[in-house]
Amino acid sequence: MRRVAIIGHGAIGRDLATALASRDGYALAVVLRPGSASAAAVDPACAVLPDVGALARFAPALVVEAAGAGAVREWGAAVLGLGVPLLLSSVGALHDDALRHALVATAQAAGTRLYLPSGALAGLDYVRAMRGAPNLRVRYESRKPTAAWADELARLGPDAAPDAALTLFQGNARAAAARYPANLNVAATLALAGAGFEETEVRVVADPAARGNTHAIRATSDLGELDLVVANRPSPDNPKTSGIVSRALLAAVEQHFSTVVML
Ligand SMILES: NC(=O)c1ccc[n+]([C@@H]2O[C@H](COP(=O)([O-])OP(=O)(O)OC[C@H]3O[C@@H](n4cnc5c(N)ncnc54)[C@H](O)[C@@H]3O)[C@@H](O)[C@H]2O)c1
Repeated sequence: MRRVAIIGHGAIGRDLATALASRDGYALAVVLRPGSASAAAVDPACAVLPDVGALARFAPALVVEAAGAGAVREWGAAVLGLGVPLLLSSVGALHDDALRHALVATAQAAGTRLYLPSGALAGLDYVRAMRGAPNLRVRYESRKPTAAWADELARLGPDAAPDAALTLFQGNARAAAARYPANLNVAATLALAGAGFEETEVRVVADPAARGNTHAIRATSDLGELDLVVANRPSPDNPKTSGIVSRALLAAVEQHFSTVVML
């Protein structure tokens, strides 16, 4: 059996657990804090693990984080320290160099790996290939409907419910991931794939007319140019998240266990 533990059981974790449970050969567990409201939605066939000791006893072959940047800080080093590979959805947490270096050092010492999936994005293969190319420049724009920014717009005040597109942020990927931990994971993934956190240019737009959660990449270098737009349908359970993210994690889980690996 392929033993997989999923941290979090929200929009992404539930979809991923359902998809894996429908396939042969997986034994699943869900990691949740004691008393979490999400526990009520966990399939009774699935173990609920409240702490690292319970996780170690479950003996997963892979742990998937689908819970947020706080969970990466809370669980990341503990999982990797068990020698178990960790697939992160909250890649934005890695904008914190100290946390990233600590996780990498723990993984190296334990002889395991940290996996960063494509998540809501596409084109990372090409950006990775461009890494280090002369005159590399990577620009990224996130354009989501206002529902995805409800909390942030409410904090800006009553005048900030835009009738037209509103630029919420313009700057580099490190500042973007720090400011919007639940919305800018892909900016961090793109930065780690290509030009780094300081050099990846990010614009964030709340747009009532957005055709879904859209991500636009423009990457140029002496080797060539990439122009790419992804328009994802928001998850019905969380407008910040797109339905494709759990499918990207599913594809990554399958790659982990596959004999043939597509890079
Ligand atoms: N890489 C990407 O493209 C991408 C895209 C969207 C979201 N994400 C990340 O995925 C995360 C989850 O998204 P979602 O839509 O499923 O969120 P959600 O709010 O619907 O669900 C979060 C779940 O995690 C649990 N949780 C929170 N903190 C925890 C902790 N410290 N320990 C254990 N469980 C904890 C919650 O109880 C809940 O079950 C987001 O916070 C975001 O960081 C990544």
